[in-house]
Order: sequence, then structure tokens, then C-alpha cells
Amino acid sequence: EMAPEERAFQQKIDADVKIEPKDWMPEGYRKTLIRQISQHAHSEIVGQLPEGNWITRAPTLERKAILLAKVQDEAGHGLYLYCAAETLGISRDQMTEQLLSGKAKYSSIFNYPTLTWADIGAIGWLVDGAAIMNQVPLQRCSYGPYARAMIRICKEESFHQRQGYDIMMKLCRGTPEQKEMAQDALDRWWRPALMMFGPPDDQSVHSAQSMAWKIKLNSNDELRQKFVDQTVPQAEYLGLKIPDPDLKWNEARGHYDFGELDWSEFYEVIKGNGPCNRERMEARRKAWEDGAWFREGLMAHARKKEARRMA
Ligand code: ACO
Repeated sequence: EMAPEERAFQQKIDADVKIEPKDWMPEGYRKTLIRQISQHAHSEIVGQLPEGNWITRAPTLERKAILLAKVQDEAGHGLYLYCAAETLGISRDQMTEQLLSGKAKYSSIFNYPTLTWADIGAIGWLVDGAAIMNQVPLQRCSYGPYARAMIRICKEESFHQRQGYDIMMKLCRGTPEQKEMAQDALDRWWRPALMMFGPPDDQSVHSAQSMAWKIKLNSNDELRQKFVDQTVPQAEYLGLKIPDPDLKWNEARGHYDFGELDWSEFYEVIKGNGPCNRERMEARRKAWEDGAWFREGLMAHARKKEARRMA
């Protein structure tokens, strides 16, 4: 029942041939990519806010310089991802409108507050760690511009993860109060970080089709398990305790077992009812409105230049 062009398209995907912007693609493939890439871009942009909150309060000049660089990298990631999405026939303005109207999502994780400096460590370690786990396979996804954008993004994310772990190490080797701050940050960020991978596979509406199209290379639960397995020894090395009484090594499976997550919290957060959703959207709306004069100026300049060229 598949049309011939669709069959040829699927054969390319199955043979690991990249799809490029001008190639024929099913509308569903285009739409799914626009949804995922734009939501990914919005996550990078909104993701600047919780960490930006600590730039003025970083404990040393060196930490401040590192954090500034990291937050700027996130802006850069957002920009390449918007460009990748634009190759699919949507404009940056349309994507921004979808974010501000609530039609397009951004990662649930950025709706939690950064209460102490240790949260900056925990975000680098856990949130960027989870992002890398999800994004390394996306370097091999079927859409060329998205796969290529992921290569540089993953290199930078590795630096971010390392800087976060370094903050955690410093706190854990510090005073008892500093170690307690690190533990408190882990306690608050652990479950939200695991939820970043998306709902359990049996509730993930897009996974089957996205995996057939190689827009996703692994399921949500697969990546979540890999992340737990990788992170538990890192917590042990820090001397911190993962806040999950059900966490234990399962010899037979060769993986850690871990407790059920509260998925009702996840669904509330993605509906807009997380602790910081309103604040995050207000910040984005204000940035968009405050930038209107600049966008208009750029357009006026472009029109003038074009008129001069035509004269
Ligand atoms: N936060 C917000 N929304 C989410 C999350 C999350 N952590 N996980 C899933 N959702 C949404 C999906 O977007 C989808 O809603 P939609 O139909 O309105 O788009 C719904 O929940 C159902 O989930 P799935 O069917 O599992 O969705 P999908 O196949 O898109 O998988 C995933 C979700 C894994 C996040 C995927 O989109 C992906 O890999 N995206 C690229 C990576 C990314 O966006 N990372 C951003 C955070 S990390 C960072 O880079 C800073």
C-alpha cells in the first residue's frame, strides 16, 4: 500500500543513506522532524535561563567565565538547530510563535528552579549528561542537517558535563555543608533528569514511527536505563547517594533496577504546570518583544540594501 516514492524513501533510510533538504520526503517525516528539532532548539534557548540565574553569583571569577561560556554555547546550539529546522520549510519566526503560544514544547527539565550553586553542578553532571546520552545516537539520525548539527553540539555538551562534575567534585571534597548542598541538588535533580528521556515506551506516542524513520535511534526507556547505569558509579565516586530506595544492581539483567517515576508530575510539567513554566515563558516573551525594534531595523536595512542593488 506504500506509494513507490515512499518505498524508495524507506529503502534509503534502511540503507543508512542521509536524507537532505531537497530530497523527497513524506509529509509526516517532515512534520516529525520540525516538531523534534524545533523543540530541541527551544530547549537549548530556554535552558539558558536556569543557569543564567547563577552567572552573577558564581563563587569565583574562573567559575563565572566557565559558566558564561557554557550558557553561550547553549545559545549557539539553539541557533544551529533553528537553522536545521528551517531547511524543512518553517521560519524562525513561526517556530518562535509556536513556542510562545504553547504549541511547541521544550524540555521538561528547564521548568525546575536553580536554588543553590550546587544546582549548577548537578545540571552539568545530570542534565547535560542525559542530553549527551540522547544526542550521541542522533549524530547518526537519517536527516543530514540534524545529524551534522549534533556532532558539534555533542562535543560542547561533553565539556558542559565535565564542568558540572567538576563542580560536584569540588563541593564533595569541601566542607560538610558543601557536601550536603551537593547531595541536596542530586536529590532534587535526579528524577527530573530521568524524565528528560520522555514517557515510558508504552506511552511514547511517536517512538515507533520515529524509530522506523531513524529520527530516533533508541527508545526512551533504553536511553534512560543507559543513563542510570552510567551515572550510579559516578555518584559513588563522589560519595553521594542516589535518592532511590529501589535502586540496585541486577546481576541477571546486567543493569541497575530503579524505582518507578511519578509520571503524573511529568505530564503536569509538560502541560505548563511545573514550578517555573510561567517564569520561563515570560522571560522568552519579554526577550521576543524587547527584540522587536532590532528585527524591524534589520529588515529595513535589508530592504534598503536590496533597493540600492536593484537601482
Ligand atoms: N520534555 C518535554 N516534552 C517531552 C519530553 C520532555 N522531557 N519527553 C517527551 N515529551 C513530549 C514529546 O515532545 C511529545 O509531545 P508532542 O507530541 O507535543 O511533541 C510527548 O511528550 C510524547 O513523547 P514521545 O512520543 O516519547 O516523543 P518523542 O518521540 O519526540 O521523544 C524525546 C521525546 C526523546 C525528547 C525526543 O523528542 C528527542 O530525542 N528530542 C531531541 C533531544 C531534545 O530535544 N533534547 C532537549 C533537552 S536536552 C538539551 O539539549 C538541553
